[in-house]
Amino acid sequence: MPKLAPSDAAQPVIRPLTQAAMFLVLTVEDGGEAAVRELVPELTALVRAVGFGRPDARLACVTGFGSAVWDRLFGGPRPAELHPFVALDGPQHRAPSTPGDILLHLRAETHDACYDFADLVLTRLGGAVKIVDEVHGWRYKDVRDLLGFVDGTENPEGVEAVDTALVDAERDPGFVGGSYVIVQKYLHDMTAWNALTDHEQELVIGRTKAGNVQLPDAQLPKTSHVDRNTVVGPDGEEQDIFRANMPFGSFKDGEFGTYFIGYCATPAVTEQMLRNMFLGDEDGNRDRILDFSTAVTGGLFFVPPTSFLDDPPPAPGAAPPAPSPPPAATARPTDGSLGIGSLKRS
Ligand code: HEM
Repeated sequence: MPKLAPSDAAQPVIRPLTQAAMFLVLTVEDGGEAAVRELVPELTALVRAVGFGRPDARLACVTGFGSAVWDRLFGGPRPAELHPFVALDGPQHRAPSTPGDILLHLRAETHDACYDFADLVLTRLGGAVKIVDEVHGWRYKDVRDLLGFVDGTENPEGVEAVDTALVDAERDPGFVGGSYVIVQKYLHDMTAWNALTDHEQELVIGRTKAGNVQLPDAQLPKTSHVDRNTVVGPDGEEQDIFRANMPFGSFKDGEFGTYFIGYCATPAVTEQMLRNMFLGDEDGNRDRILDFSTAVTGGLFFVPPTSFLDDPPPAPGAAPPAPSPPPAATARPTDGSLGIGSLKRS
C-alpha cells in the first residue's frame, strides 16, 4: 500500500482559527488504562456523530498523549522525541510543568458542538480519568487576545504549515503525520497591562495594536514577544510553530488569559522559544509579555496519526496475536497425488 503523506495521515491539526475551542487535560487513573484504550479507536466516529448533522460547526478534535501515559497505554515503539514538558526556572519567570496524560483540543464554530463531544467522551471515560484542566476559549473581536493584539497572524500556511507541524518519514518513519504539541495556560494581569500606553504595549508585543503590523527591525526591542520568538535554525532558516491560541476569562474567578497551544514536527523548536522567553539571551533579554502574563500550566503531548488512533497497537505487555494456522486447503498432499477429489476430512 502506498504510504500516506503527512497531511493525509494527520489528525485535524492544521485548521483555521475557529470561533470556539475547548482544551481538556486529563490524567488517567490507575486501572483506567483499559477504558481509555477502548475509547481511543472510537474517537473519530464520535466526532462524526456530533458533527455530521451540523456541518457548519466544523467540529474537530485533536487527541494527544503525554510521555508517562504512553507506555501505560501502548506497546511497541514510542514517538522518537516524546518526553515530559521541561519546566523552566528563569531569573524572574517560571514555566511550570503540570500533570496531564491526555490533551483533547476541540475546535468548532459553535461552543455547543465542543460541549456535546466532550460530554460523550467524558461520560464514556467516567472514573477512568480525572479532568485536571478545562478551558473554554472564544473568538475575541477580530481574532485578538485579551491584551488587545491580533494573535496568530504569522502562523505558517499551506505546505509551510504541514512542514512546520507534522512529522515526516525522515524524522520518524513510524509516526508520519504525528505532531508534538505544547500547551500553557497564561493568566494576564490586566490592571498592570492597561496601565501601559498603546505604544508601550506595542513595544512589548513587537507589532502595532490597531494595524497589526510588525515594528520595523530598528524599532523592535530585543525583549519584545516577536523578537524572542524569532528562532533561526542551524541552516539559517527561520523555524516556526503552528499556533491556535484562544482567549478565555472568568469574572467570578478573576482569571483572564490566553491558552497557548503550539504544534510542531519536533518539540525542540517550541522549547527553544520558551527558553528565549523565560531564560532570555546572553544579554539578559527576556520576553516582556511575561511581566504581564503568568504561565500556570505546562504540558507536552504527542498527537499520533489518525491510523494510530483508529487501530492502536496492543497494550504494553499484551501477548502478541497468535499466528493463524495455515488453511487446510493449501496443505500439500503427501501421497504424491494432486489432492483433488477427496471429500474426506483428515
Ligand atoms: C501570554 C501568552 C501569549 C500571548 C498573549 C501571545 C500573543 C502573540 C501575539 C499577539 C503575537 C503577534 C501576532 C502573531 O500571532 O503573529 C504572537 C506571535 C508569536 N508568538 Fe505568541 N503569545 C503568547 C505565548 C507564546 C508562546 C508561549 C510562544 C512559544 C512558545 C509563542 C510563540 C509565538 C510566535 C512563534 C509568534 C510569531 C512571531 C513572528 O514570527 O512574528 N507565543 N504571539
